Amino acid sequence: MPRFDLIATTTFGLEAVVAREVQQLGYPVLRTVDGRVYFQGDERDIARCNLWLRSADRLLIRVGEFPAPDFDALFDRTVDLPWADLLPIDAKFPVAGRSVMSRLHAVPSVQGCVKKAIVESLKKKYQRFRFEESGAVYPIEVSLLRDVASLTLDTSGDGLHKRGYRVFVGAAPLRETMAAGLIQLSYWNRERLLVDPFCGSGTIPIEAAMIGRNMAPGMGRSFAAEDWRWFDRRIWKDTRTEARDLRQPRLAQAILGFDHDPAAIRLSERGAREAGVEGDIQFREQEVSDFRTGQEYGVVICNPPYGERLGDPEEVAAVYRELGRVLSPLATWSIYVITASRAFEHQFGRRAHRRRKLFNGKLECQFYQYPGPPPKRADSAPNAAAEALASHADHAAIDESDDAYSDAVTEPVDSATVIESLAQAQEPTEDDVAAAAVSEAAAAAAAFNAQPWLSPQWILHTQVLLDSFQKYVGRELISRSDDPEDEARRLFDASFVVVSHGTQEDPVLNYGNRTALALWEMDATTLTSMPSRLTAEPVHRDERAQMMARALRDGYVDDYQGVRISSSGKCFHISDAIIWNLVNLSGQRVGQAATFSRWQFLESRQPEAVDS
Ligand SMILES: C[S@@+](CC[C@H](N)C(=O)[O-])C[C@H]1O[C@@H](n2cnc3c(N)ncnc32)[C@H](O)[C@@H]1O
Repeated sequence: MPRFDLIATTTFGLEAVVAREVQQLGYPVLRTVDGRVYFQGDERDIARCNLWLRSADRLLIRVGEFPAPDFDALFDRTVDLPWADLLPIDAKFPVAGRSVMSRLHAVPSVQGCVKKAIVESLKKKYQRFRFEESGAVYPIEVSLLRDVASLTLDTSGDGLHKRGYRVFVGAAPLRETMAAGLIQLSYWNRERLLVDPFCGSGTIPIEAAMIGRNMAPGMGRSFAAEDWRWFDRRIWKDTRTEARDLRQPRLAQAILGFDHDPAAIRLSERGAREAGVEGDIQFREQEVSDFRTGQEYGVVICNPPYGERLGDPEEVAAVYRELGRVLSPLATWSIYVITASRAFEHQFGRRAHRRRKLFNGKLECQFYQYPGPPPKRADSAPNAAAEALASHADHAAIDESDDAYSDAVTEPVDSATVIESLAQAQEPTEDDVAAAAVSEAAAAAAAFNAQPWLSPQWILHTQVLLDSFQKYVGRELISRSDDPEDEARRLFDASFVVVSHGTQEDPVLNYGNRTALALWEMDATTLTSMPSRLTAEPVHRDERAQMMARALRDGYVDDYQGVRISSSGKCFHISDAIIWNLVNLSGQRVGQAATFSRWQFLESRQPEAVDS
């Protein structure tokens, strides 16, 4: 089966989510740029991705990419591409076009040039002068960006947001792909209550129910490539059968969707029925001000009215204030709101922990994120990072690496405020000064533990981790942005594990990202004061040392597996781990690092020996 260069296209701001989805489907991402996620696959992979990608707009085959400063270059290079391998003699091949920051900016002329060049290419191959274009549609796009032409064949046809369940739309609906992206950016999982108090036509609850039940979003529609002559039809049939088999039973915890408009509730119910998730969602007509709950650890994800599209600004402000009022007692809840209103945080009454710029259609929005504490678990006392792990484990039980938060705008914790609140009103005694120093240190440690990646050492160390990975492993660990602080944050927030240690005789850990901290159940201060051998049980330490020595000799190893142990004694098996050497800018060896995205808790195992 031939392999293709594939591109999943995405709206601005959701690239990292789509990249994670692609990885979770089992395809390594080659690069992610400007709304495009590049990877490779064959016909089967094209069918799977069309059926399963939730946040991508389309799946394209990349036919060619080349500099096209003028029409001659565009024509000649297009003729040379292997069109006859893709387009049969009767293919109908409309050419869409766009041009951004390029000398060839007259899009109709660009489209015409490409069309002529493809005809020229087909003439040579098929020995014909005319093509009837009476067969299936093979949609082509020429896209010029900074004088580089990219020619693609669209395997999806209609955009992937067209799932087939939405027959009528309400006012200002969210795209299905965007709703799926928001849910995947949140910490919701099928065990937790999800509420959308402004559900409109029900897009967020319906997409969440499909995620929770592992239902392929493309099951209810067809795709352009299904009609293609060279595409084996059995593949589509098998892929759909596989998707049906992977569906999970009904959600135990129903999702709640409210709206004060009865027509919206009717639309939502109809959409849920069409999508086959009516039993997983309860829709109800309700004013936001009437929302009450006794449940803990719920999640709100919503798209309230914005001034620009729905309601006048005063009404919208009142709705945001009500939302803030009804949610403020819910200390354990996680809240996520997408809106174009700049005044949202002020009117809602709380600054977001994070913000992410997203475009809902052409409207620039912010996704305001207020993650709550992780749900209590019967068997452990999870730390602040455990929620990431819970979410990671739940999102379709897929544990490939990702970079889902790459564009999040994070507000630094205001440690000064914490310290200020500790200040004494009266003249301090010596004991007070000592106690204040301890408190200050504690506050500083708390600030560090909340966002260790903000510290200059971690920012620098992230560069060493990333540059060394590229040097030894030959690819990037995360997409690079030329912004060390941004890279430090994204590596810290990645859902795969990254840990490293220094070059001491008994090396001490000097880095652990959020997922590592959750897995080993400790904060950054504790982790970075621990000899790295203690991350493994005593019986596994020799084998671990041998593998470290092998990495030292060869630069890296990528096949490590072994058993690790968390601070509370939970054992987990890791596999496909990569261990690589760390060198600084002057080429000096400064330690070793490890990354992995596969682990499994060994439920019944107790630690095999107690460390002395
Ligand atoms: C932007 S739309 C939500 C669109 C929805 N996400 C979808 O995909 O269809 C906002 C919704 O909030 C509802 N709404 C406005 N004010 C409300 C209020 N005070 N209480 C409850 N619902 C309200 C509107 O009826 C509208 O359906």
